[in-house]
Amino acid sequence: MNFFKKDKKTALEAMDLAQFIAFGPVVFQVARVLRNKGILSVIEERGSAGITLEEIVDRVHVSRYGVRVLLESALGIGLVVENEGSYVLTRTGYFILHDPLTKVNMDFVHDVCYKGLFDLDKSIETGKPEGLKTLGNWSTVYEGLSQLPAHIQKSWFAFDHFFSDNAFPAVLKNVYRDGIKNILDIGGNTGKWAIASVNYAPDIHVTIMDLPGQLDMARKKIEELGLSDRVSFYSTNILDESLPFPKGFDAVWMSQFLDCFSEGEIVSILKRCAASVNEEGYILILEAFWDTQRFDTAAFCLQQTSIYFTAIANGNSQMYDSRVFKQCIEDAELEIVEQVDGIGLSHSLLKCRKKR
Ligand SMILES: C[S@@+](CC[C@H](N)C(=O)[O-])C[C@H]1O[C@@H](n2cnc3c(N)ncnc32)[C@H](O)[C@@H]1O
Repeated sequence: MNFFKKDKKTALEAMDLAQFIAFGPVVFQVARVLRNKGILSVIEERGSAGITLEEIVDRVHVSRYGVRVLLESALGIGLVVENEGSYVLTRTGYFILHDPLTKVNMDFVHDVCYKGLFDLDKSIETGKPEGLKTLGNWSTVYEGLSQLPAHIQKSWFAFDHFFSDNAFPAVLKNVYRDGIKNILDIGGNTGKWAIASVNYAPDIHVTIMDLPGQLDMARKKIEELGLSDRVSFYSTNILDESLPFPKGFDAVWMSQFLDCFSEGEIVSILKRCAASVNEEGYILILEAFWDTQRFDTAAFCLQQTSIYFTAIANGNSQMYDSRVFKQCIEDAELEIVEQVDGIGLSHSLLKCRKKR
């Protein structure tokens, strides 16, 4: 990974980017409103011939003034170009409109993070998710996930599942090739890994361990699918070290889970995981690390996602640099026996065992 080693911008490019940052929230909201009001779609329909301001006003439920200020802002952002009064969508405008990754990121940032980010400075000072009060009165977002307003919950799950949905099919074969039959899925959420696993082979049993709210959602889904004899449920709050882990598993599976915790908490969780598996058992970790990405934009997305954890989720975790994360594994007296990068969009699989 060589992206972050050199300042490659000219002074002019650097000045441009500084202004983009200064007006970042404006740029973000304009792009989102243009997308949601259908203005970008109307422009796209006309292709390279373009469309005038008046024609756009006729097609959308926005005033002439509204369309004009949005379009003029869009010119500066680079979402559209204008020639003799006709507006044409740019490639960036196309991605705002159609790219699924851009859509989940934008909806997540707006619905889950935007208001809470206003208090980022306080979160940095206190180590608490000071922005979470914009969503509800909980100490972490996970306590409130099942109670979030429907549109916010939709954006949260769309964001979370976008990455794991891409990774799960790519990793199932590797996970189950060593004869794992009885697996504990910690942070199993709505049951997606459990469902993928029991559909993968008839002799796999999954126990989902999560907070009670998420467990209820998972149980409902598993019942609907008629898979209740293949999946068990174990309710807990993993931050309470006095609560026991279930024991006797071939492996523990944690996908996009440990990034919800601080380094100290990760070490504590990993030590307790080790006690849950047999001597030869595996601790399997699926995570996205910003330093193992092939593309700098992928690293960028993960680095910015960290700030959601700081301001909204819990105040003390992040999308980790793999070097920091591996130190936690070392501190928990586990060893990595295999690492597979490049899974799905951005994930790495770390297969760990107890140190001998
Ligand atoms: C980011 S989601 C990951 C979901 C899923 N494993 C995936 O890969 O899509 C994190 C999960 O960890 C659970 N979680 C967070 N804090 C927890 C805690 N203190 N105790 C138990 N589970 C917790 C959340 O409820 C949520 O289901």
